[in-house]
Amino acid sequence: MKRRSWAEPYKIKMVEPLRMLSKKEREKAIVEAGYNTFLLRSEDVYIDLLTDSGTSAMSDRQWAGLMLGDEAYAGSRNFYHLEETVQNIYGYKHLVPTHQGRAAEHMISKILIKEGDFIPGNMYFTTTKLHQEMAGAKFVDVIIDEAHDPNSEYPFKGDIDLNKLQALIDKVGADKIPYVAMATTVNMAGGQPISLKNLKALRKLTQKYGIDIVHDMTRVAENAYMIQQKEEGYQDKTVAEIVKEINDLTDHATMSAKKDALVNIGGFLATNDPNVFQEARNMVVVYEGLHTYGGLAGRDMEAMAIGIKESVMDDHQRARVGQVQYLGDLLLKAGVPVVKPIGTHGVFLDAKAFYPHLSQDEFPAQTLAAELYVDSGVRAMERGVVSAGRNKETGKHNYPKLELVRLTIPRRVYTQAHMDVVAESVIDVYENAKNAGGLKMVYEPKYLRFFQARFEKL
Ligand code: F0G
Repeated sequence: MKRRSWAEPYKIKMVEPLRMLSKKEREKAIVEAGYNTFLLRSEDVYIDLLTDSGTSAMSDRQWAGLMLGDEAYAGSRNFYHLEETVQNIYGYKHLVPTHQGRAAEHMISKILIKEGDFIPGNMYFTTTKLHQEMAGAKFVDVIIDEAHDPNSEYPFKGDIDLNKLQALIDKVGADKIPYVAMATTVNMAGGQPISLKNLKALRKLTQKYGIDIVHDMTRVAENAYMIQQKEEGYQDKTVAEIVKEINDLTDHATMSAKKDALVNIGGFLATNDPNVFQEARNMVVVYEGLHTYGGLAGRDMEAMAIGIKESVMDDHQRARVGQVQYLGDLLLKAGVPVVKPIGTHGVFLDAKAFYPHLSQDEFPAQTLAAELYVDSGVRAMERGVVSAGRNKETGKHNYPKLELVRLTIPRRVYTQAHMDVVAESVIDVYENAKNAGGLKMVYEPKYLRFFQARFEKL
């Protein structure tokens, strides 16, 4: 077969110049940021792979949509466009817009959780778990064991272990489990997808016990693309068809539209349950704004409606995920320890394997993210012991098996040459790994500490 590279299904109309600090300036900047890449100024960053959240490039259609913003307080035309898009593309009946994903998590947790409940999920996400806990629940990880092993090549490491779920049901009783939290894809596992086979089996089991499924659909189109590529029987389906099929197996959804849906801000809660809808529509006016804008401008909702449609195009996902795989392949070829298989929104470096001489108390992933910034101005994010926080009862660190640094790729922003530079820098840092010392935490905020914690060199 003739070889054909994937390439972007767009061309570039506007550019944003970057500047590059000297190494000396970067060393100073990381000390001032307390060795926390969240505390760097964006202007001091060359290639920003902190997150794919709100950092994507909008299309000319989306920018044009901003001009069609109907900024009426109530009943904005853009709300109705968004509602119709969520119904048609995603298949959920009712929509409550929110300013971003965690606001939807806040509401669904408050509506469905009672004090003393248990929420099983396919690994945790930081904000999702915190809202569940603040509503009185205990989170229980029921993802398959492969997800905790960076070297397992299993293609659907987002799958739920139904035996673990059954064991929890048997132990605490179905009436203490209002819902299963199911994410597409699983961010903390390395952007790993769930299979439709597993989701169908999950649906069967949960329906037997009257347990709902709350779908964190933040990266559902990327998950659908992986199903199309890797799951038997889906090669001839479109990403859009697979997205619909996933959603149809769930009851409610929370969305951070800052990822898949290609906007800089926005999210929503969607549900098929009219009672949950009534409650959420009422709650949103307390926390976000009227139910037809939920903390967003009309123009934001317009850009989101257009972005949702673009996000389920096959050629878009081929280029988006293709770019992530390209970077992953460069690192794999160089023998750099990364989470395998490569996920959809970023490449995750295995910091434990980089720094076998550092214990988790010396924050290997936090160290690696700082080293990478100093080397090249590439900004990444810690996803290890700092992100995992402390155990609520014992006050001790949670020690996750995965101690990772995430190179997260914004959508439609960077070029293949940028990916080459990133790979070259990661390889250099890996070659110098034995010289790295660890860090100690000198300031620790109470909630979601990874955002604002400060460190010093040991
Ligand atoms: N769920 C998942 C799977 C996420 O990745 C995020 C955000 C959220 C929920 C919360 O949404 O930020 O709009 O309130 N993830 C970002 C990240 C912050 O960098 O991974 P939000």
